[in-house]
Parts: sequence; structure tokens; C-alpha cells
Amino acid sequence: MTDNQPTPDGVLRLINGYWATGVLGAAAAHSLFTHLENGADTAARLAARARISERGAQALLDGLVGVGLVELSEGRYRNTPEASTYLVDGRPASLSSFAQLKLRHMGALTGLPDVVRAGGPVTDPTTEVADNPHWEEVVPAIAAQSVPAATVAAEVLQLAGAGEISVLDVGGGSGIYSAIWLQTNPAARATQLDWEPINAIARRLLTERGVADRFTTIDGDLHTTDFGAARYDVALYSHIAHQEGPEQNIEVFTRLRDCLKPGGALVVCDYVVDDDRRGPAFPLIFASEMLLKSQQGSTWRQSEYRDWLVKAGFEEISFHAAPPATLVVAR
Ligand SMILES: C[S@@+](CC[C@H](N)C(=O)[O-])C[C@H]1O[C@@H](n2cnc3c(N)ncnc32)[C@H](O)[C@@H]1O
Repeated sequence: MTDNQPTPDGVLRLINGYWATGVLGAAAAHSLFTHLENGADTAARLAARARISERGAQALLDGLVGVGLVELSEGRYRNTPEASTYLVDGRPASLSSFAQLKLRHMGALTGLPDVVRAGGPVTDPTTEVADNPHWEEVVPAIAAQSVPAATVAAEVLQLAGAGEISVLDVGGGSGIYSAIWLQTNPAARATQLDWEPINAIARRLLTERGVADRFTTIDGDLHTTDFGAARYDVALYSHIAHQEGPEQNIEVFTRLRDCLKPGGALVVCDYVVDDDRRGPAFPLIFASEMLLKSQQGSTWRQSEYRDWLVKAGFEEISFHAAPPATLVVAR
């Protein structure tokens, strides 16, 4: 063996990577991070608090130490600062329900070799199905991930001091953007277009945040619902472009441009791939999720967004980092 001989360590880590999703999702399902935060610091105490077996609690604790989310010192377990911030139930940035959702989705991955051969979903298309109940479990679970992007967008667009603006959020999901933007600007109003059960979820969030009086919803399919003409100051299309093909994105961008008042801005948020296709890592990998779940979706490159937005009639286009997503602002 020469010094340059690669070791199998990295490949083995990737092959076994699903165990990280497994222990994290199972721990979240039993609220272990929440119980740890509240002082259950041994396998026996956790087992009693979570009503699970002590053997199971010990196995999960070992796995969580292994993936670096829990620390062990003098026989006592505790959350790392990361787990404490992002995995305790009920905290504003909690990803606990997302961890559980991803564990439930893992079975579908076994179909990926067939999906790759076919070039699209073979049994289980997701994004094209009207009123798909899939979204009802997805949108609350992903809401926390849109908080940084919504905050960056509010700064880029200087929404706080923008006065009486009106916003259209197409495919707004949980309503998290409207919630943050309406809290940022007390004179703003927002309208969300989404499927009826999803809009009901969003109205609940906006009510909890005390801004529901400036929030309205339109139930319907974004492909066929009229966005109106010269009606909004800001339009938003967040994490939708990746489920659509190029022609559909150009068509939607064109209608979004028409719905904006003169000088209005379109904000697209998505996992955007560098033009040379060498990064960033997560947008590159997420392309396979869209292969699995959509007929034409993918993670698109900056140059593709620019091209489509110009075709839709936009003139000024800028890109802003909101990792792991990118904001595309077009006027
Ligand atoms: C990935 S979620 C994004 C939610 C939100 N924009 C965000 O970034 O957090 C996609 C959203 O688009 C909605 N959606 C997907 N296809 C749609 C369609 N054809 N018409 C209306 N809404 C649609 C889903 O219901 C879901 O709320």
C-alpha cells in the first residue's frame, strides 16, 4: 500500500449515513432531546420519562453521542448546544418534526435506482398531485428552515420601513414568510395562494403570531389561479421552482411579473446550484429528491434562473446567500 492509497472510511461513513437519520428521527419521535433538556440525564431516567425501554434509551443515547448531538460526562448525558437549540420540541427553530418526517420518508429511497433508470417517479409522484396530503405533514415540519431566508429577504427588500405594501406568497405553505414579514412591517398586508388545507395551517400560524387581520388566503392551484395585474409590491415563490420544469417556471415568473406593481420585486428562494455544477453540496444532492418526487423538477443553476427571469420580463436580477438556500431578487 502506498501513502496515497485512499481508505474506505469516507465511503463507509456515507453507506452507513442512514443510521444518523435513524437515531436522530427516533430520538425526536420520543422527545429525547426535550427530556434531556429537562434534566433526564441517564438512560433509566430517559426511559421512564419517555415511556420507552431502557435498552432502547441506551442505544439511542450511544448513537446520539456517536453522531455528536449528545455529550456524556461523569455518567450524565446532556444535549450539545446544537441539539438544545434545534431539537428541543416547541423552540422556535426546532427541527424535531423535520427529523421525524425524514425518517418516515427514508423507505422511499429504496426506489431511487428504478427512478434513476426511468428518469422520474415510478410509483409515487408527489408534487403534481392536487391537494396532496403529503404537504400537510411537510409544511409545518419545514417552517423553521425558512426563518433565516425570510429574515434575509426582509433585510434585502428593506421591508421594515416600506410602509403599506402588499405581498403575494405563491405556495406559501406554513405561512412563515407572511408571519415574519407582517411582524417586521406593521403596515404590510399579505396574501397566500396554496391548497385549501395548507392555507388553514397558515391561518393558524398567523393567528398565533397576532397578525392574521392583515393576512388573506386564496385556495387553488398555482398553475391555473389568476395572480391579478399590477396588484402587489412583492411576490414570493419559495421552494416551488425546484418541483417545476423550465417551461413551467418561465410561465409562472411571467404571471408573477404581471401581478407586480411598477417597481415591485419578485423573491425566489430555492436551493440554487452554481453554474459550473460543482456546488453547493446540499442543492446538488437535493436534485435526487426532485427526481424521486416530481416529473420535471430539479435544483436549477443561477444561469437558468437568470435566463427564465429575463424571458419573463425582469431586468434587474441579484442573488443573495441564505444558506443552504439562495434568494433570487428580480425587478
Ligand atoms: C416545499 S413547500 C414550500 C412552502 C413555503 N413556500 C416555504 O418556503 O416554506 C411547497 C408548497 O407549495 C404548495 N404547492 C405545491 N404545488 C402547488 C400547486 N400546484 N398549487 C398550489 N400550491 C402548491 C404546497 O402545498 C406547499 O405548501
